[in-house]
Amino acid sequence: MEFAGSDILSVDQFGRPDVERVFEIATKLQMEETRGRIGEILRGKILGNLFFEPSTRTRMSFASAFMRLGGQVISSEGHEATSMAKGETLKDTIRAVQEYCDVITIRHPQVDAAAEAAGIARIPVINGGDGSGEHPTQALLDLFTVQKEQGKVDDLHFAFVGDLQFGRAVHSLCKTITLFNRMKIACIARDVFQMPDTIVEQSRSRGAHVSLTDNFEEGIKEVDVIYMTRLQQERFPDRADLRAMEQFVLTRNLIERTCKPAVTIMHPLPRLDEIASDVDDLEKNAAYLRQPHNGLFVRMALFLLTLDKTKELP
Ligand code: NCD
Repeated sequence: MEFAGSDILSVDQFGRPDVERVFEIATKLQMEETRGRIGEILRGKILGNLFFEPSTRTRMSFASAFMRLGGQVISSEGHEATSMAKGETLKDTIRAVQEYCDVITIRHPQVDAAAEAAGIARIPVINGGDGSGEHPTQALLDLFTVQKEQGKVDDLHFAFVGDLQFGRAVHSLCKTITLFNRMKIACIARDVFQMPDTIVEQSRSRGAHVSLTDNFEEGIKEVDVIYMTRLQQERFPDRADLRAMEQFVLTRNLIERTCKPAVTIMHPLPRLDEIASDVDDLEKNAAYLRQPHNGLFVRMALFLLTLDKTKELP
């Protein structure tokens, strides 16, 4: 794809070379950062960071990435703080916000809200999570983390665990890994929380081997990467029965008893109880502790690409 001037709404926009291009720039940025040479490539640029849903990492990571490149950030947090609380439409909000900035990052509870914003804005719009739809920047930072942890992105065996039905991070990541070769994917979830059929079918049509199971211990035995997720309770506020359903919990004991020694444990975060705190001590495996750091460089890379500034890298 041509990144310059483009929106980033769904991982369906990417081919393998696009993902590799983002990783190449993120790696370069990470190297330059350690030498203190990143510079102020985005000086004079403004990011409009619009978050209509709770967030710590994604919101602050977008802002930090932009500021570390010398840009400035204006932001809006929550519905209540905007004119949308007075009844304004997303369309009218975006029409105005695009006058104040050079690129928009948006998180919204509604699937396709980022696409709607992109349809209005003449500046690039980056999806920071649209309801239970997609979370493309998370998928890129997740796979970038896998590459660093496992040393490759082909020939890997993944387990996605937890709420695969409503979790946008797993939707985007599953679609992204199937751009690579010889992938095996175990979707481990209670029936109501299983991966949407469309994503399973797309993965299979791209040649990935996909299995669906609710046997957690069996499912994680042979895998290289375990991607844990929390129950997306905010997506089904009226379903006490679903909220009460027992969830899979990854403990240090289970990992030591069951998994490959080099298994990479990931989570988009925030975690509730899915990963016991004693797993944090398995430093080599606990890659969820490194995902936020990697995310910063992936998001920097995406800003440079969409704003057509990669040529100014040292
Ligand atoms: C995820 C999200 O918001 O989709 N978090 C994140 O962006 N790092 C996952 C979640 O909230 O469970």
